[in-house]
Amino acid sequence: AKILLVNGPNLNLLGRREPGHYGHHTLAQIVAELQQAATAAGASLEHIQSNAEHELIDAIHATQADFVIINPAAFTHTSVALRDALLGVALPFIEVHLSNVHAREPFRQHSYFSDKAIGVICGLGARGYQYALDAALAHLKTQAP
Ligand code: DQA
Repeated sequence: AKILLVNGPNLNLLGRREPGHYGHHTLAQIVAELQQAATAAGASLEHIQSNAEHELIDAIHATQADFVIINPAAFTHTSVALRDALLGVALPFIEVHLSNVHAREPFRQHSYFSDKAIGVICGLGARGYQYALDAALAHLKTQAP
C-alpha cells in the first residue's frame, strides 16, 4: 500500500510553534516515525508539507498513493479547493489534527473535509498520525481484492 501524508501551512514550525497546542515533536520526527511504521507494515509513505495551497493540490493530483492522511492545518477551515482536489482524485482519506479543534476558537470547529473523510482524529498530538496510519492500513486491507 502507498500512503500520501499531506501537511498544511505552518506545520513546518512544529516543535517551536505554540507547543501548548501542538506539542514538542518536530515535523521531521513525526514523518520519520510514520515512515518507519509504514515500512514495518510493508507499506510506503510519501510526504509533502507546504504553506502554499496550490502545491498541496498539485501533490494530490500527481500522487500514485492509495490513501491520503492529511492535516490541512488552517486550510481545514478555509479551503474548498483542497477539498475538491481530494474528491477529484477520489482517494479515501483520514483527517488529522494535533490539537482538539473543538476545544478552541469557534472558527476551528468547521472543517471542509470531515464530512468526506473516512475518519477524523484530533486532540491526540503527534500520536494521532500513528493512529491514522493504523486505520489507513486496516481500511486498505478491507478493500483489497
Ligand atoms: C491544526 C488545527 C488548525 O486549526 C490550525 O490552523 C493548524 C493546526 C492542528 O493540527 O491542530 O494549523 O490542524
